[in-house]
Amino acid sequence: MKEETQLIAAGRPHSRPAHPVNHPVERASTFLFPTYDDFLEGAKSITYGRLGTRNHRALEEAVNILEGGFETRLAPSGLAAVNMAIIAFCEAGDHLLVTDSVYDPVRKFCDRFLNRFGVTTTYYDPQMGEEISTLMTPRTKAIVAESPGSLTFEIQDLPALAKAARAGGAKLIVDNTYGAGHFLKPLSLGAHVSIQAGTKYLAGHSDCLIGTISSADEATAKAVFSALLQLGSNVSADDAYLALRGVRTLAVRMARHQETGLKLAKWLAKRPEVDTVLHPALKTCPGHAIWKRDFTGASGLFSVILKPVPLPALKAYFNALKLFGIGFSWGGFESLCVHARPEMSRTAEPWQEEGPTIRFHAGLEDADDLISDLDRAFAAMNAAKG
Ligand SMILES: Cc1ncc(COP(=O)(O)O)c(C=O)c1O
Repeated sequence: MKEETQLIAAGRPHSRPAHPVNHPVERASTFLFPTYDDFLEGAKSITYGRLGTRNHRALEEAVNILEGGFETRLAPSGLAAVNMAIIAFCEAGDHLLVTDSVYDPVRKFCDRFLNRFGVTTTYYDPQMGEEISTLMTPRTKAIVAESPGSLTFEIQDLPALAKAARAGGAKLIVDNTYGAGHFLKPLSLGAHVSIQAGTKYLAGHSDCLIGTISSADEATAKAVFSALLQLGSNVSADDAYLALRGVRTLAVRMARHQETGLKLAKWLAKRPEVDTVLHPALKTCPGHAIWKRDFTGASGLFSVILKPVPLPALKAYFNALKLFGIGFSWGGFESLCVHARPEMSRTAEPWQEEGPTIRFHAGLEDADDLISDLDRAFAAMNAAKG
């Protein structure tokens, strides 16, 4: 069966004589076993709310198909998924290599939390390939990649990073939120762990926070599960239900996000106000050739670097938008636009663009309506420039 068919069938109930299409939400801390034998049998899958209900198992099954993993586990948010995956593999005195383009709260976790426990971090240029091995030490336990970076869109050479990680006895952990498991399969490129902020494309409707952690092999999966257990990680059954509902329509939504995102990006590339478009499917994006090699498509997320513009004119631009919401997230059905500030966090490769970086998420609205919205915003910006 094709993956898209498997994602419709995965984790569905099969009880007699009839059953709903979807598992009802099981809000439970406690499960009761009628007999001791049932207790022994149940302990293999469902035992206690924090360890997951049928809603959790069903979502894990579907995401595991999507990522091509040995096992998938859930975390309460995308950030928790990345951070718990990191914790699974390091101890005091260890070292991490983290991409300079990483989602900024992960950077803060490394610098402000892990360093208190004696774990040090080096940030690397996201365009580094196998030469990353020159930054590895005998204590390097993980390379943390994000491809593409969710503000600056550098595509990373995952097979090269995987080779270096494996040669140095480290794990390659990849934030795969952009590709959503649909357009990129990091585990098939050699990564040990692929995480997603399921909050974005998997859930797809901007109404829940959830993370997924997919492991390539049994040993990796055991370490991840142990970290989740020790940290008392919990995901609500409601959120697991919502995320699985999103997964059922992922393929059709991703196709539309891709189509609209590309149309907007190409239109923006022709605007006189725009300096550069950072969209993985366009040649102007760093790592475009790697995107062509490793990805099967592009999602709806991309950035543009505007030519320098005074702040009041930038404000006029944002305030004129009617369809694009001003908001930090992405992956939902609605279009979003935000002033990204990569210059505030980069350390390995300082971000030195003169104009502002604006990140767009192309939602499911009609592309021409979205273009009219952007056109109106540029008119307001130019009027404010005087
Ligand atoms: C690339 C990336 N990874 C992880 C996260 C964190 O996800 P969550 O908000 O579910 O913690 C985000 C959130 O914006 C993100 O953009």
